[in-house]
Amino acid sequence: MKTDSTTPNHPFYEKVETLLSSMTIREKLGQCVMIEPCFCLDERTSEQFGESYDGVDDPKYLSMLLEEYHIGAFLFGGASQIEDGSAKAWATYINKVSEQNRKTRLKIPMMYGIDAVHGVNFMKGSTIYTHNLAVAGTWNPALTEQYASTVGAELSALGFNLNFSPTIDTARDVRWGRVYESLGEDPFLASQVARALVKGMQSSGNLAACAKHFLGYGESRNGMDRTQADLSDRVLLEMHAPPFEAAIEEDVLTMMVNGADVNGVPVPVSKKLLTGLLRDKMAFKGITMSDWEDVERLYSRHKVVTSRRDSLIRSFNAGLDMNMAVCNIAAVDTMESAVREGSIAMERVDQAVRNILLTKYKLGLFDADPVNIQQASVRVGNDESKKLAKQLATESITLLKNDNNLLPLKKNLKSVLVTGQSANSKRHLCAGWTLGWASAEEDDLSCATLLDAIKTSVSHDTTITYAASTEELTALNLNKEDFDVCIAVISEEPHAEWTGDSFDLALEEEEEAMLKASVATEIPVVMVSMIGRPLKMNWAHEHVSALLWIYSPGTEGAAATADILFGDANPSGKLPISFPQDGSQVPCVYNARSYQSDEVWTRYEPLYEFGFGLSYTSFAYSELCVPTMVKSGEDITVSVTVTNTGERAGEDIVQLYLRDQFATVTRPLKSLKAFRRIQLEPGESKTVQLTLTPAELGLYDEELNYVVEARKIDVLIGDLTGEFRIED
Ligand code: GLC
Repeated sequence: MKTDSTTPNHPFYEKVETLLSSMTIREKLGQCVMIEPCFCLDERTSEQFGESYDGVDDPKYLSMLLEEYHIGAFLFGGASQIEDGSAKAWATYINKVSEQNRKTRLKIPMMYGIDAVHGVNFMKGSTIYTHNLAVAGTWNPALTEQYASTVGAELSALGFNLNFSPTIDTARDVRWGRVYESLGEDPFLASQVARALVKGMQSSGNLAACAKHFLGYGESRNGMDRTQADLSDRVLLEMHAPPFEAAIEEDVLTMMVNGADVNGVPVPVSKKLLTGLLRDKMAFKGITMSDWEDVERLYSRHKVVTSRRDSLIRSFNAGLDMNMAVCNIAAVDTMESAVREGSIAMERVDQAVRNILLTKYKLGLFDADPVNIQQASVRVGNDESKKLAKQLATESITLLKNDNNLLPLKKNLKSVLVTGQSANSKRHLCAGWTLGWASAEEDDLSCATLLDAIKTSVSHDTTITYAASTEELTALNLNKEDFDVCIAVISEEPHAEWTGDSFDLALEEEEEAMLKASVATEIPVVMVSMIGRPLKMNWAHEHVSALLWIYSPGTEGAAATADILFGDANPSGKLPISFPQDGSQVPCVYNARSYQSDEVWTRYEPLYEFGFGLSYTSFAYSELCVPTMVKSGEDITVSVTVTNTGERAGEDIVQLYLRDQFATVTRPLKSLKAFRRIQLEPGESKTVQLTLTPAELGLYDEELNYVVEARKIDVLIGDLTGEFRIED
């Protein structure tokens, strides 16, 4: 049982209170300001400030930040780099800052935060994993936890003790540019994945995960990044809160706040959400931090305050503990005067600093040794991480169409045509947040491309012909009889945040032209979609023979894809998000509060539905056993038998959905409430037991109280349906 570190009998409590009582106001406020040293150096040495320093490790510069402003945390954003970006450079810098910090009066250890969102992705030579949407697409919490633990260990070996990860937003509008970073449209799947990511990331004990972005970020009014979200309390509680509740149950140490306007109030100044919901209702006890300069944006963008000074006062009073101020070290001065004039209460300051100090104690930072630079370098890009990244990519890859079992391809085909510029691209494999914010430089990555992997998979007698563009394809003047198959690799420009927003979900012009030119060859086409999110696939679905969604599978993704293309692995991914027919059908989510009827606006008719994914084998479901009744407040266990009716081993994901026959409030068309990934040999059967607890059986009633209401409920697994009733 975790003892609550905020209660007097906890050993940290005494230490924190003693330290807190010895701190000056300025020392306290410095703990609440997070600075990005590279950006801040640029600003301080610019004409505006005219200060002169010899670099981010200049003792004068560090002394100014740590001793004059008492800054307690450094962040390194997507665009930051220390020297050559090597493990040695990063670890050496962190040691230098920590050494300078030991000259401060109280020597309160620093937090060092960075975005390691799909591996230690800012580090040259590191293993780049697939992104979160694909991680959710594996439906494999155990593997997910192992992945997060491996990345966490690599990151803390470098000296970082805060990872701005995981993104655990549910994405309810696929036009959003960050869908690929999210955990998909379903709160239950997102919760299970969030739990595994936080548990794994924090398993080393000296790295804080950061659940982000609390909350409602994935459902803005028009799907665009950071535009206003108008979400009812019910939608917030049912569709956006659950992953954050799961993260809190896993004792996530920090929470990054969505900077956007939710229901008319930007979340950094929303007492209702930051204090009422997050602290009081969800009992979060860790650090709340703003996103990048989002406190300043309260003034410059949202205009909900009349000055930058008021943005600091209002956000802090709403319950924000740490301001990701980036360059604004003057925030310490401003807040100090605000405290002295009584605009910010000392109790609020103490509460924020208490959360921060407790976290630093929990992470063992007060006893931390300097970073071992040799050890830090050894871990980067090691074989364990490569193996794990390949397995994660393999289990996420989803087969969406496979006419006449065209896949898997034989390795001794006579002749294969490969098309698409990204077939020979490393940066498209990795997509956003790779060695930078939006995309890596091609030459900074070292991994196999899909074309490389295809070439090494086929026999020596197989001819591979490659056309990177429609012009090259035309110039081949090829005869369709000369080719067995065309593998058309279609992708999109790597992007981050708003740069990826898509109003119409259209493929990029060149990519669409490449796809159509590939189909026009009249060679059977296997489309490999290297797109991290559901763009419009209906034309593709109509015209290609097979469609494999590989997401943005990372540095080991080409090998994973080739294994599946040529049958060394059997695809097992299932969709964590729906594919709309086209942009006009958005939002298109399987669990809308809706009912199936003839009216168009109520129908859920995606191109590919949530939870869908084909296999090279087939599975049959039988013997669904559902107890007829369960008492309110008790668990119910359902069982079902799954048989592999095909000729090869495979993994299936048993998905249990509930559908309320009636309730006192309208309910989702159906809701995922349990799942299990199982491996079956040909002809093998397994009986799977899935238990539902009150946490899955309840609902928010009209007053938004969570209750387990007496009612009849259908159980849907595979093509089977059962029912039970809940009795008071
Ligand atoms: C960005 C992102 C956030 C990231 C932060 C620091 O604006 O919204 O996810 O962690 O800045 O890089």
